Amino acid sequence: MNEAGKKAAALAAVEEVQPGMLVGLGTGTTAAFAITRLGELVIAGLSIRAVATSVHTEQAARAMGIPIIDLAGLAEIDLTIDGADEIDHRLFAIKGAGGAMLREKIVAAASRRMIVIADASKRVARIGAARVPVEVLPFALSFVTARLEAMGARAMLRQGYRTDQDNLIIDCIFPEMPDPCALAAHLSAIPGMLGHGLFLDEVDCAYIGDGDRVIRLER
Ligand code: 5RP
Repeated sequence: MNEAGKKAAALAAVEEVQPGMLVGLGTGTTAAFAITRLGELVIAGLSIRAVATSVHTEQAARAMGIPIIDLAGLAEIDLTIDGADEIDHRLFAIKGAGGAMLREKIVAAASRRMIVIADASKRVARIGAARVPVEVLPFALSFVTARLEAMGARAMLRQGYRTDQDNLIIDCIFPEMPDPCALAAHLSAIPGMLGHGLFLDEVDCAYIGDGDRVIRLER
């Protein structure tokens, strides 16, 4: 773990937040550094509103004094800052180890600009080694599991876990991932599959922190 790298990446991303923005707040330990920094800036007078990608993030943001609004009444977000489990030079990412990828995908897609923040351990040549989480309607568990296995996945139900939407997560290991876009399309076509952790179109920029050094990747 590279806590300094996470924090450095988060602080760099928060520099992009401007007064008056509607900001999407990600979920996870790296996003938490961004939320803390934004909370400090709000206390110092920065006027922003935010949308949270999880119940945990909403609670953390509210505790820091960041005004949270419901995405249900909105179609567009100015800027989202979120973590990732893997990110590569194409700005393809795998997300969802924290189980929030369904809301994270909606918030990212609704955002004019989406920034991934990560420590250097998350940067890979090509995404594919991390588990790809899939949110599943409980009613469809066996059906979706069978479809995932037919696609070559080792599919493991996340034990004792429910998402914020009260659904299940199947974590998938794909022995190889030569074409993430084709895989994402196949996943999206499974009825009962509500959201997956492949983020291929959404990310505009990544800040990667290694100690106090930060590099920026831009699409
Ligand atoms: C949650 C996520 C997280 O952003 C991702 O798992 C990275 O988390 P962390 O910053 O704690 O390593 O996608 O659903």
